[in-house]
Amino acid sequence: MTLSQTLRLKPSQAGFEQASDLLRTGQLVSFPTETVYGLGADARQGEAVASIYATKGRPSFNPLIVHLADQAATERYVTWSPKAEALAAAFWPGPLTLVLPLRDGHGLSSLVTAGLPTLAVRVPAHPAARALLRQFDGPLAAPSANPSGKISPTRAEHVLAGLDGKIAAVLDDGPCGVGVESTIVGLASDPVLLRPGGLASEEIEAMLGRELTRPEAGDISAPGMLTSHYAPGAAVRLNATEAAPGEVLLGFGPVAGDLSLSPSGNLTEAAARLFDCLHQLDRMGQPIAVAPIPQTGLGRAINDRLVRAAAPRGHSPG
Ligand code: TXA
Ligand code: MG
Repeated sequence: MTLSQTLRLKPSQAGFEQASDLLRTGQLVSFPTETVYGLGADARQGEAVASIYATKGRPSFNPLIVHLADQAATERYVTWSPKAEALAAAFWPGPLTLVLPLRDGHGLSSLVTAGLPTLAVRVPAHPAARALLRQFDGPLAAPSANPSGKISPTRAEHVLAGLDGKIAAVLDDGPCGVGVESTIVGLASDPVLLRPGGLASEEIEAMLGRELTRPEAGDISAPGMLTSHYAPGAAVRLNATEAAPGEVLLGFGPVAGDLSLSPSGNLTEAAARLFDCLHQLDRMGQPIAVAPIPQTGLGRAINDRLVRAAAPRGHSPG
């Protein structure tokens, strides 16, 4: 689908209504969440969901996260267990996605689940996302609103840089507060950390009173997680304490760099700034060196995204 113009909508009642009307007619609308901007489509309309893949240039049909207004709204789609309920009670709305058994008669497009017997559900905390979901009153499938393999968007400008003219509208409510995608926990059997993200895994483990299992290497339970992703145009080199000739240095804490994720070494600030800094450095077109980031709390999600940004290019899942 080629559209000549992408509408910029404000986070007002009129904006939510217009966004919701576009979604009902099967169009794509990008909306802010506390993690990143999503590319939303009505999860019940197969053609709308198919156009998410076409618009992102996502080469394979990875399952998508379904966003809903509250836990009650998820109950028609997934089966809840006591562990899942406890996690939702503690962390929803917020940057946590739960993968739960899919219910019969769910009515979702099979492109959303990619044929799996499970469904990823998320109740975002962002006020504009919540207002849109209340207005739309249905399930919104939404991956990050970036062309496949590129850096995720944390501002409406990032969305437009990649998708202007290709989607019906973007609901602009400024920068995202968390800045990295939601943490994904699989609960179809023992709790497993499918993707580190905006909620620190330590917090989830403290709540559950046990460690989360990590997927085995090569396990495709979170198929979007395997290859090059978040890739700027130029090469990315990690754990650098200084720039090599020609490189720009992305700093953290004591490593000042040309630009810093957080001069004070604060991981929450670094997560919020990560994709915006990568977008800025990407525009400079030079190879990027990145300072070491501690592998703790939100540092796990930051390092996960950086490793993918630095991975050899080629196949990317979207
Ligand atoms: O913060 C976020 O989660 C953002 C915002 C927009 O909500 N969304 C997002 O969606 O990051 P996406 O499509 O970029 O990532 C979804 C991830 C993929 O890695 C996919 O493989 C995994 O979730 N996933 C979805 N359904 C799954 C399932 N049933 N089992 C395992 N993994 C699943
Ligand atoms: Mg993505």
